Amino acid sequence: MNLKKIVGYQAAALVKDGNVVGLGTGSTTHHFIKKLGERMEKEEIEVMGIPTSYQSFFLARDSGIPITTLDEHDVDIAVDGADEVDNQLNLIKGGGGAHTLEKIVDQSAERFVVIVDDSKLVQELGKTPVPVEVIPQAFRVVKKELKDMYGVPELRMAERKDGPVITDNGNFVVDVKFEKIPQPKDLEVELNSIPGVVENGIFSGIVDEVLVGTARGVNTLKRI
Ligand code: A5P
Repeated sequence: MNLKKIVGYQAAALVKDGNVVGLGTGSTTHHFIKKLGERMEKEEIEVMGIPTSYQSFFLARDSGIPITTLDEHDVDIAVDGADEVDNQLNLIKGGGGAHTLEKIVDQSAERFVVIVDDSKLVQELGKTPVPVEVIPQAFRVVKKELKDMYGVPELRMAERKDGPVITDNGNFVVDVKFEKIPQPKDLEVELNSIPGVVENGIFSGIVDEVLVGTARGVNTLKRI
């Protein structure tokens, strides 16, 4: 049973005719975007997509979803994946290095829906490192600041290119492991206050609901 596909398809059913849709990035939203394209063709609904990465841009285009921008439209609903989801529906994102544009699109949406399989649920954020997008010239000084915050920073290296990963915005990604993240909002704000940091992968307090794929079906978690 492909849990990512199940939640992706369920999220595609939430989109209404005429909606402007934020298109998240990753292997879970892949299913959402493909299914949305299929719905447009079969049900003759009209939607427009605002991609959060080159990955979702190409997939939307190949799936027949017309593209628009935040300059032209507000987002009715954004659907995105996550690397971790805690009890309060705070997230860690950026496993694919797309968290900067994801946060801009997701936060601006009228309704922000997250789709994950149940392996992504945690009591407290911090099992995985926090991705931090950094302007290349600032790398050394940002790394020092991150160590001063008791983080363990590691420059993300590319796999089929020599050297570091370069984001869609032309920057580096530093993955920072923290022993604990008891106050996600505070850490999110503190990381973004370091000069040279573009955006970090903690998304606190912006999720409306999470669709969780489990072996027994889909659970919906709502922010209270
Ligand atoms: C992209 O940078 C990430 O924020 C993804 O949305 C996140 O890593 C979830 O990806 P998967 O759906 O592939 O697990």
